Amino acid sequence: MANVIIVGTQWGDEGKGKIVDLLTGYADSVVRFQGGNNAGHTLVVEGKQYIFHLIPSGILYEDKQCFIGNGVVVDPAVLLQEMKKLADQGLPVNPRRLMLSSRAHMIMPYHKLLDAGSEAQLATGRKIGTTGRGIGPCYGDKILRRGIRLGDLLDRETFRERLQENLEAKNFLLTRQYGMDPLQLDPVYDEFMQHAEQLAPFIGNVALALDRQRREGKHILFEGAQGTQLDIDHGTYPFVTSSNTIAGNACTGSGFGPAHIDAVIGILKAYTTRVGEGPFPTELFDPTGEALQQKGGEFGATTGRKRRCGWLDGVIAKEAIRLNGITDLAITKLDVLSGQPELQLATDYQVGDSTLETMPENLKDYQQLQPVYEKLAGWSEEIRHARHPDDLPAKARAYIKRIEEFTETPATILSVGPGREETMLLRNPFTG
Ligand code: GDP
Ligand code: IMO
Ligand code: MG
Repeated sequence: MANVIIVGTQWGDEGKGKIVDLLTGYADSVVRFQGGNNAGHTLVVEGKQYIFHLIPSGILYEDKQCFIGNGVVVDPAVLLQEMKKLADQGLPVNPRRLMLSSRAHMIMPYHKLLDAGSEAQLATGRKIGTTGRGIGPCYGDKILRRGIRLGDLLDRETFRERLQENLEAKNFLLTRQYGMDPLQLDPVYDEFMQHAEQLAPFIGNVALALDRQRREGKHILFEGAQGTQLDIDHGTYPFVTSSNTIAGNACTGSGFGPAHIDAVIGILKAYTTRVGEGPFPTELFDPTGEALQQKGGEFGATTGRKRRCGWLDGVIAKEAIRLNGITDLAITKLDVLSGQPELQLATDYQVGDSTLETMPENLKDYQQLQPVYEKLAGWSEEIRHARHPDDLPAKARAYIKRIEEFTETPATILSVGPGREETMLLRNPFTG
């Protein structure tokens, strides 16, 4: 038995979905524990591409169980669409394969409008560049204790009451603060009651189900969304998402005890990307940045926005290892670096006269921060065929070795292409 958490170490889109899909092959169940359909996880299996926003990336295996934990925010219409798409592809999702926590909060139509309204009113330089999916307002309501949870769908009266209370408050904001039209109770109620009919058989006690699995000696994989630098507490606040993205939240967001976790895998893209606004010390504004964007196909899987690109940042890698308790690194997209004559690794930051080995505590410090780079040799060969580290050019092996030395963490998974088979699994976290 082993229970493993996968998290992003940077600003998301590190390739978590691909690695989750690969490791699901060795697990019994997969759990999403935070975030919502702001996530976009792309997998390529037998040449076919799948993008998941809400359903765990493990769903492609018919004999595995998937869970959406209490820490996730669920837009029921998006979930149903994802289920329909899977059914159309010959993979119908039934309650034996997917359980939704009754405690997960629902993204309501007003959350999406409030997300858009709030972004529109922020001044230039203060906009977050959210995905517009209603994530922040939904988590806000959860903390304010005004949220509506999936379990509320099962009791029509309570649902209607809670919706009515919320609409009174939200319509005031929508009309007065944002100049939008108010929402009417009946159409929203009717829409959600239709969702309720379809979703009711999937709703249950996820924490209890996971405990049963653990007692039966099953292998559980926890799939993080976003990345460490987007964490609401530890990221580049306020340019972050509205949940804790770090490994600790795998336990809170699913109701699973921390003592039962055996390994934490940090997904590290071989360079860095960021979608949306906010600090990005190693960002490149030159043809090298463009080349990474092009070769890496760096477009957001959720919003289609171009991802900002830059060199690998050792400072944030080390920070992610510390904050998440990462035991193993999975280095992805190594193939994208082929053809770069020289690579750079940020080892620390210069702020005025001082040297920083961590991300600054204060957002203002980013304005005068300069990364200090260590130069490393690049390689010209394409490497997507590599299935063993010995198949890699010596300079690619040296790049990986330097990352391991610098972060003091072994790179036990290496990824050289989007396909499931384009991966080297050097240590299996489930079997040791
Ligand atoms: P996630 O949000 O962390 O799951 O990552 P995304 O799916 O948003 O973005 C990663 C993108 O890179 C996807 O299009 C993947 O198919 C692709 N990808 C993953 N690993 C590799 C790799 O090793 N090489 C290449 N070229 N593409 C990869
Ligand atoms: P995956 O799981 C990359 C970013 C948005 C924005 C900020 C806040 O695919 O790695 P939100 O809509 O969450 O309130 O937006 O967070 N963001 C992501 N960036 N990958 C993601 O998910 C992201 N989810 C949110 O671009 O800057
Ligand atoms: Mg993504």
